[in-house]
Amino acid sequence: MPKCIGLRLSPRLPTLAGICPSSSSSHSGPSAVGSVPILAKALNKWKTGGRAPRRLVLGLGVSFWAQLMNMSGAVGGKSFTASARLKSGPSFEEILKNVEWPEQFPFKEEDFKRFDESSDQLFYEAPRFVTHIDDPAIAALTKYYSKVFPPSNSPGVCILDMCSSWVSHFPPGYKQEQIVGMGMNEEELKRNPVLTEYVVQDLNVNPKLPFEDNSFDVITNVVSVDYITKPLDVFKEMRRILKPGGLAIMSFSNRCFWTKAISIWTSTGDADHGLIVGSYFHYAGGFEPPQGVDISPNPGRSDPMYIVYSRKLSTV
Ligand SMILES: C[S@@+](CC[C@H](N)C(=O)[O-])C[C@H]1O[C@@H](n2cnc3c(N)ncnc32)[C@H](O)[C@@H]1O
Repeated sequence: MPKCIGLRLSPRLPTLAGICPSSSSSHSGPSAVGSVPILAKALNKWKTGGRAPRRLVLGLGVSFWAQLMNMSGAVGGKSFTASARLKSGPSFEEILKNVEWPEQFPFKEEDFKRFDESSDQLFYEAPRFVTHIDDPAIAALTKYYSKVFPPSNSPGVCILDMCSSWVSHFPPGYKQEQIVGMGMNEEELKRNPVLTEYVVQDLNVNPKLPFEDNSFDVITNVVSVDYITKPLDVFKEMRRILKPGGLAIMSFSNRCFWTKAISIWTSTGDADHGLIVGSYFHYAGGFEPPQGVDISPNPGRSDPMYIVYSRKLSTV
């Protein structure tokens, strides 16, 4: 099976510099950017309940982008590149424990800008019959799903795979009455064997999910939450369409089509990504406190795999 991997960038140390000791001095590669300690400092304030700064991540300069472009070989924005890996410091699970979130959503419009602001429709026009994470990472995700999904063929169970493609990584033979895929490329979705139906929709143009309230038991999103430019709108919609107690599972690795990922993502590392996704659940409202799980197989030897999940409050 072809795998869509660009150049793997040099790993860097954990980004929660304020929490993990001596993290920034030995940064290497293009991901060691000045914005990281800024986010780290802010995240530390979240933890300590301090007031969040007006802006967590400063706009990244052209030279940074140019450098990253050169080093990743991502000219044209087609490569799927790797960045940071959580190496030490707090475990991924700990990152979302007892966060004292600022009152207001701490990110600003510019944090959701992307290097390539051209139409996503164009970017995803051609199908990519590739996998975006390596086989051990896929296996870890499938195993995780098999533990938390409702049993196969449960009457009335509906699942939505957001940002889907030709694969959903569900357990082999997994079936439900309704498994809907939403994505950008119809040819990919058509070929996805687990889906009972699909919808092609650009969530960055229209974040409204075309489904009724309280209709899904589970929503999955694999290695794609970083492309969403209006995350609060999308997460509020996820809350609306989930059944009370319904589960939303956002999974990600350390790879992305970085020209299409939001700037707050490309300028931060794995630990920060956990907090960023956690913040989407928190500020969308109506979800249980988000939790993080590190399901990385063979840490350091294959792609890492992280989950941030939450359930819709049963009282909503
Ligand atoms: C890296 S691929 C991951 C696909 C699939 N989840 C997987 O694991 O193979 C990113 C996916 O995000 C989806 N996506 C990207 N931008 C999107 C947008 N603006 N609206 C909806 N979906 C989007 C595309 O359908 C694309 O397949």
